[in-house]
Amino acid sequence: MREKVHVALGDRAYDIEIGPGLLGQAGAHIAPLLARKRVAVITDENVAALHLETLRTGLATHGIEMTALALPAGEATKGWPEFSRTVDWLLEQKIERRDVVVAFGGGVIGDLAGFAASVLRRGVRFVQIPTSLLAQVDSSVGGKTGINSHHGKNLIGAFHQPSLVLADTEVLGTLTARDFLAGYGEVVKYGLLGDAAFFEWLEMQGPALASGDMAARVQAVKRSVEMKARIVERDETEQGERALLNLGHTFCHALESATGYSSRLLHGEGVAIGCALAFELSARLGLCSQESPSRVRAHLRAMGMKTDLSDIPGDLPDARGLLDLMAQDKKVVDGKLRFILARDIGDAFVTSDVPGGMVEALLKDALRDR
Ligand code: GLY
Repeated sequence: MREKVHVALGDRAYDIEIGPGLLGQAGAHIAPLLARKRVAVITDENVAALHLETLRTGLATHGIEMTALALPAGEATKGWPEFSRTVDWLLEQKIERRDVVVAFGGGVIGDLAGFAASVLRRGVRFVQIPTSLLAQVDSSVGGKTGINSHHGKNLIGAFHQPSLVLADTEVLGTLTARDFLAGYGEVVKYGLLGDAAFFEWLEMQGPALASGDMAARVQAVKRSVEMKARIVERDETEQGERALLNLGHTFCHALESATGYSSRLLHGEGVAIGCALAFELSARLGLCSQESPSRVRAHLRAMGMKTDLSDIPGDLPDARGLLDLMAQDKKVVDGKLRFILARDIGDAFVTSDVPGGMVEALLKDALRDR
């Protein structure tokens, strides 16, 4: 039950290994990258408590020594203070140009450690060992690294591709059901944006996936990263097509901002609601049939996921307020919001050509249904 996806980016090409038990075999995969048998691991306190010893043993079987820094878990870590602490720690550990940093955790750790690796001594290599479903299918692949600013999320960062990604699907077994389903929002996104057959497969296999079917989990991670890899190969720095990966994200960022990036709404939950809204908007614009948004919602509902604005607890701003939050998105170009819309399930495209009034009306109706 092992899969491998190659990301063909010339001299920055790398493999994504997928399957259960990879932590215990990390040494075999990482050893070929090392000039000396020592790595510095950046992780968070939760992941460290659950999995750091398994990784240590996996590295030790190939004689690789490990030193680790465990940061506080949570989005608040992804800012300047913990970033500068990380860079200083890596320098204290005497990590040199030819050494390898390991990012061992979810999206926060992957983004922060990857960014630290990109600036340390003007750039050292790093390995992603993602431990959340969201990180396995999205953030660990493609080289986007960075931290948040008080001006917004992910506004400080660099493109820095990892040298290897190890997605151990066994580790997903320690996620809460809520965290797993939030990551599943990003899995569904891939089917919706470019592979109708994959969406159909998810409609059938989703429940097995959620209840722990390992073969289904491996296939879902594989197909997701395969789709991401192909897009990143064609458009590494998001000049065009890569923006498709942001399906649902323009709505999601406004909702995350409105809920204070708190546990009221996890990122992947916002993506799922955002995808449903993007399909509803597409149907209202006559781009796709009304059946498409209904089918998207039906699958999300069947999985027990947040689907509508009414699933978000607490107050939300009115439609105008949400539109203002959308306008702060970093995908605004020349003051125009870019949307990812769809002609059908599996057929998304990028456009700036959406009348603001249509979006406001959609949000008004969605808020009225709360
Ligand atoms: N998460 C979107 C991207 O990597 O482009």
